[in-house]
Amino acid sequence: MKVLVTGGAGYVGSHSVRALLASGSEVVVLDNLSAGHTAAVSRDATLVRGDLSDASLLDDLFEKQRFDAVMHFAAFIEVGESVVDPLKFYDNNVGNSVRLLAAMQRHSVKRFVFSSTCAVYGVPERMPITEDMPRRPASPYARAKLAVEWALADSAPAWGLGFVALRYFNAAGAAADGSIGEDHDPETHLIPNVLKVALGQREHVRIFGTDYETRDGTCVRDYVHVEDLASAHVRALDVVEPGETRWYNAGTGQGATVREVVDVSRSVTGHAIPLIEEGRRAGDVPVLCADSTKIKKELDWSPKYDKLHDIVASAWQWHQTHPNGFDNRRE
Ligand code: UFG
Repeated sequence: MKVLVTGGAGYVGSHSVRALLASGSEVVVLDNLSAGHTAAVSRDATLVRGDLSDASLLDDLFEKQRFDAVMHFAAFIEVGESVVDPLKFYDNNVGNSVRLLAAMQRHSVKRFVFSSTCAVYGVPERMPITEDMPRRPASPYARAKLAVEWALADSAPAWGLGFVALRYFNAAGAAADGSIGEDHDPETHLIPNVLKVALGQREHVRIFGTDYETRDGTCVRDYVHVEDLASAHVRALDVVEPGETRWYNAGTGQGATVREVVDVSRSVTGHAIPLIEEGRRAGDVPVLCADSTKIKKELDWSPKYDKLHDIVASAWQWHQTHPNGFDNRRE
């Protein structure tokens, strides 16, 4: 398969590129490098620097490369930022996804794997979350992701598009061989922020909200290893067929509170990791935990990393060896 991977220089994208290459696919990465890193892109993939808003670039790429499928990761990812600047998210995450789909339609590319999110469920009526539960997205970020799911479902019949939307939970960890990992600027995610304290780069971790109705008052998330998400994308590509539409949750099913993440990180790093308690962060929901029965059954996928300790240890290996992340040169 020849696959176009948008956002393939980003966190989940770059791990998925490597998994695709390992499974025998040919990969072209399209990334504007606004958040991605050249050094994260495997040498065995072709990296094209460009923007999804550039219709002529897309036409040129699709014309020359004759892709069998597209995997679409490129998007802004911060829930809090989306509350502050919603149109930025609608423009990039929705507008550019629509432009990408339009280019696929023009060039009759009929297989698509979409990077969606468990945030589309908002505050669910029960846990764990199954795919059929109502979507009540609680932030512009989540609503923009759901809008793309709708655009996919509405437009797919028009040209026989087949797609798999993977609603993933909280991506964490790094490549087992230590070569790539998480590097956002600014970093807003919990695990890297906690580990930066252990590295001595920050004095303390800030806990956003201690009055949620959870076992210790802090938010619960389902942390899933980035290499497991990458393998879910490869499985999705294996099954996606023109005209068929599928949605799957991808998580471990095990929720951890913010305080539990800090405790596990203390045990992994041997650092005291001081914390300070702050108010709630806009857009956060109390609990997100996956029921991944459907993807396990239909795609024969299951996460190799099922312990938070191992996921944090994997992230810690990356942060220790790359305290400043990527240096933007290919290694
Ligand atoms: N948190 C802190 N302190 C921090 C960072 C985070 O207390 O320094 C808390 C957050 O308030 C939240 C939890 O830790 O309760 C997890 O926050 P993250 O920022 O790590 O992850 P989010 O759940 O907000 O969002 C992430 C991705 C989204 C994705 C979502 C799915 O950024 O793209 O997971 O849950 F949609």
